[in-house]
Amino acid sequence: MSAELSIRVEDPKQDPFVGVYERPPGAPSEWWRVSMSEREHMYRIEHGGAQGRVNIDTVVDLDNLRAKLHKWHREGFVRSGEGETLAPPHREDFMMRLRRAAQAMPASQVDEPSITIGDIAIAQGAGGSLVPAVNPAYLFTDRANDVLRDIAENKRVMLIGHTGAGKTSLIEQIAAHAAHGVLRSNMNGQTTIGDFVGFWTVKGGETRWVDGVLPLAMRAGH
Ligand SMILES: Nc1ncnc2c1ncn2[C@@H]1O[C@H](COP(=O)(O)OP(=O)(O)O)[C@@H](O)[C@H]1O
Ligand SMILES: [Mg+2]
Repeated sequence: MSAELSIRVEDPKQDPFVGVYERPPGAPSEWWRVSMSEREHMYRIEHGGAQGRVNIDTVVDLDNLRAKLHKWHREGFVRSGEGETLAPPHREDFMMRLRRAAQAMPASQVDEPSITIGDIAIAQGAGGSLVPAVNPAYLFTDRANDVLRDIAENKRVMLIGHTGAGKTSLIEQIAAHAAHGVLRSNMNGQTTIGDFVGFWTVKGGETRWVDGVLPLAMRAGH
């Protein structure tokens, strides 16, 4: 085995197709597995059912594999733990419904009840499980007014400061008093689209969907 080939085999992440493709719970239990074949530029495809028995085991070239991936995609198969690498199956339908929902939203929310924090009136949120707890010891300083004003005007805010300067607690306490939910997402070199959108994962032999922060926020009506 050449050095190049062994790297490809040991690091399947290097290859965009290698992995196990499964369907969400509820669909008939069935899987396809794609691995590197011993022959260069060829892929091994295996298919199995509920009992884990392999009933198809074949070697194909890249063109053939691409055709199979399309077919599996249509049938709802998603590569385990990497839902974000495939386009969502019903994207156009989803985008159409999203546009319709956006059009149905009231253009202005000025009539909504507001609460005054510091010197600024902040529109009250809908409450819910994502609202942080009020910290009775928290003090809104004059400086908070700048941030509050930007939030009231629906501007995006970036707070920069040393650890412990009070960035997180300011946002949390504004949200706590105004009954807005807070979702936190840490960004670093390992952050993936799946952290936002969600991803498929396999747990206890079952394929499960894990929501990212976006569907979490949408389910809570944000
Ligand atoms: N205005 C304030 N009133 C009371 N406690 C505060 C205030 N600002 C920050 N704190 C407290 O200081 C600590 C550090 O603040 P934090 O918001 O976590 O900082 P950062 O996010 O900038 O690292 C927290 O325990 C927080 O409750
Ligand atoms: Mg912080």
